[in-house]
Amino acid sequence: MNIPYQANGIYPSEVAIVVNAARRHAINVFLESGIDNGYSTEQWATQLGCPVNACDMRYLPDTVARLAKYPNLTITQQYGHPFLHGQAKALASYRIGVFIDGPKYAEAASLCHELLVAYPHILFVAIHDALDPFEFDVLRDGAYRLTWSIAQYTDECAVLDREAEEFNNNMGASYSKGPGLLLVER
Ligand SMILES: C[S@@+](CC[C@H](N)C(=O)[O-])C[C@H]1O[C@@H](n2cnc3c(N)ncnc32)[C@H](O)[C@@H]1O
Repeated sequence: MNIPYQANGIYPSEVAIVVNAARRHAINVFLESGIDNGYSTEQWATQLGCPVNACDMRYLPDTVARLAKYPNLTITQQYGHPFLHGQAKALASYRIGVFIDGPKYAEAASLCHELLVAYPHILFVAIHDALDPFEFDVLRDGAYRLTWSIAQYTDECAVLDREAEEFNNNMGASYSKGPGLLLVER
């Protein structure tokens, strides 16, 4: 299914990395924090074959209306921190994958760390726009490992992402400023 790219979305190569992780870990619920125009959200809803529960701190009527056609997708207006903890507690018998694209940077990295320490049924956390300076923080616990970062960005990824990159440049989008996915998995 061809999902049209939406401004500020993550890149197709990054979608592929998260979808592969979800398959590898046989996850049966996927959580996202940070929706905006919902490019990533629509990818999870169509590719993962499981319930997708997503939140954004902002009210997003256009995105909610566009994505209302996916019965496996639930959108909640809430901050990521309480949302992800609440979902992880409520869904303790599930195998969960998490994608954090808001909050950003250090807040995302520490939320990633907290989730992996507190909930063994979270099998991986992918974070966007939190790159190498945070690697040591998220790895400190030793119970999980970093499997992908900007260092693995190949020419093949760049080809896959060219259209999205051009789209964002033409739109003067505030995100995404190039690829930047960190995948931390058990
Ligand atoms: C880059 S956009 C998300 C793009 C989307 N994931 C995609 O790839 O299409 C970031 C979003 O995160 C939201 N956000 C920022 N901080 C947040 C927080 N602490 N909790 C929930 N959402 C947050 C913003 O409102 C914004 O809509």
